[in-house]
Amino acid sequence: MPDNQQRDIYRRLLKLVKPHWHRLAIAMVCMLGVAACTAALAHLVKPVLDDVFIEKKAEMLMVLSVVVLLAFAMKGLSDWGQAYLMSYVGQRIVAQLRQKLYDHLQRLPLSFFDRMPTGLLMSRVTNDVNLIQGAVSNAVTGLLRDSFTVVGLAAVMFERDWQLALVSMVVLPFAFFPVVKFGRMLRRISTKSQESMGDISVILHETIVGNRIVKAFGMEHYEKERFSKENMKYFKYVLKSVMVRALSSPLMEFFGGLAIVFTISYGGHRVIQGVSTPGGFFSFLTALIMLYQPIKKLSRINNVIQEGTAAAYRVYDILDTPPEMEDRVDAVPLPLMEYKLEIRNVQFRYGNVPVLKNVNLEVTAGEVIAIVGVSGAGKSTLVDLIPRFYEVTDGAILIDGMDIRDVTLSSLRAQIGVVTQQTILFNDTVRNNIAYGDIRRSEEEIIAAAKAANGYDFIMKMERGFDTIIGEQGVRLSGGERQRLCIARALLKNAPILILDEATSSLDSEAEMEVQKALENLMAGRTTLVIAHRLSTIQNADRIVVISNGRIVEEGRHDELMECDGEYCRLYDMQFAQVDNNSTVKIVTNVSGQVNK
Ligand SMILES: Nc1ncnc2c1ncn2[C@@H]1O[C@H](COP(=O)(O)OP(=O)(O)OP(=O)(O)O)[C@@H](O)[C@H]1O
Ligand SMILES: [Mg+2]
Repeated sequence: MPDNQQRDIYRRLLKLVKPHWHRLAIAMVCMLGVAACTAALAHLVKPVLDDVFIEKKAEMLMVLSVVVLLAFAMKGLSDWGQAYLMSYVGQRIVAQLRQKLYDHLQRLPLSFFDRMPTGLLMSRVTNDVNLIQGAVSNAVTGLLRDSFTVVGLAAVMFERDWQLALVSMVVLPFAFFPVVKFGRMLRRISTKSQESMGDISVILHETIVGNRIVKAFGMEHYEKERFSKENMKYFKYVLKSVMVRALSSPLMEFFGGLAIVFTISYGGHRVIQGVSTPGGFFSFLTALIMLYQPIKKLSRINNVIQEGTAAAYRVYDILDTPPEMEDRVDAVPLPLMEYKLEIRNVQFRYGNVPVLKNVNLEVTAGEVIAIVGVSGAGKSTLVDLIPRFYEVTDGAILIDGMDIRDVTLSSLRAQIGVVTQQTILFNDTVRNNIAYGDIRRSEEEIIAAAKAANGYDFIMKMERGFDTIIGEQGVRLSGGERQRLCIARALLKNAPILILDEATSSLDSEAEMEVQKALENLMAGRTTLVIAHRLSTIQNADRIVVISNGRIVEEGRHDELMECDGEYCRLYDMQFAQVDNNSTVKIVTNVSGQVNK
């Protein structure tokens, strides 16, 4: 990380500290107290030695005992005060930063999540933020408290013997040299080890969420190996950092020892000569020895700061990722009108890969459009553009003649109900999953939505009815049940525009019919785009649009399209072929090539 970037990070972290200045000020007073008491203790060695031990003044024994005791008590109190206050500030800042990071994650565009693995992001919000906490609370505390202490003790040394003090100070920079050197090294190692922790989190997340597939494909061993590789990598980085860290202490100790040996020989000489008293000399030596602790702590602090800034760099990297397209300054709420949809010359690329090429489509209010096409044709992509999950690369999408980029994102999304290809549910109660868009909905409305989605019966059969927790992604439900909950959620939202990416999970004919009925209830009276994988959906649509290779190639009603003998006929023969005697769909190979019964 270049130095100017590092300065930038310090500045940003400092900005977070600023609002807490009054706590910091009190903490600083406490730290000054710690430093003053420490210096006073070193200072007191002279009167104790000279007055009590050499001059044998009895009255001084009492006085000095009380003073020393007071100094220790004061030091303890101040230390406690500064520790509490600084932790408060540090933890507070980190809680703020974590919240900020989370809020920002919620505002990032889908394309960001396409790029970043979940586990990695989780590692950023937890591990990295904790490292910053270490940097902020420990480092600021140490930096102030320990440097005050160093100054106080140095003052005592100069007071006792300025010449000797001057010479000792020459040795000190040597003690600091390894500190600076190792700090840089540690930051590099820390960056690598945190990145490695991110990789571990990614594997962890993937294999826990996808454990069923790991088991089904017998990949436990493979995953164990994969994890073990990352785990060992992390172990090695940690070991490296321990080595560097552990090396800086003995090195400093050695240089410290050098200073002490020098002081004893030179100072002893001066006492023998009678230039200074034994008390003065021991007071000096005490200060020098006491200096060792804060300097050692200061050296560790540098490491903590280096780790913290490396972590802060990664956190700010996310915070600096531009959020989802902001509303234009003149954006207005989408006016409530008739909900006519127009897709005009739309092109779209994921990165550099063109997916949609010049798509034109008009949907009148209340019309149900079925979109069909082979897998990967661009159907999901096309409908993702309407709630602006992704921004069109070229062309425009208009609702009632208004470009959707001219309206506020929140008002646009409020008018659109979405049922996605993957059923996405949360580890919460059935009730909260249905009422996800607006958790203040009344019980009656929620029940009505569940009934319309043909879900009421199965919900009531569950142990705790609407209060049943359905597990992460709804794992405790069947595929069809999950779909019906998603449909109930969209029904409750009651949005005038509906986007439906039919899920392709195989359902038996009874469940298929249940879901179909639920879908029909959902589509009634709404402007609907439905990516159809079921014949029944296609037959119920007002118009069918065939997408091939990012373009609309055919449009019309089922029977019209069947006459043309084009792409639709081919798709139909291949995928929607119907063999049935009680007018329900029997074997239908859906668009993705899976088999539905
Ligand atoms: N997030 C993404 N990043 C990059 N490319 C993507 C992304 N999502 C889809 N694609 C690519 O865009 C193309 C169209 O994908 P899309 O999901 O729109 O297909 P689809 O018609 O919905 O297919 P299916 O019927 O299988 O759902 C595919 O080639 C796919 O690989
Ligand atoms: Mg799709």
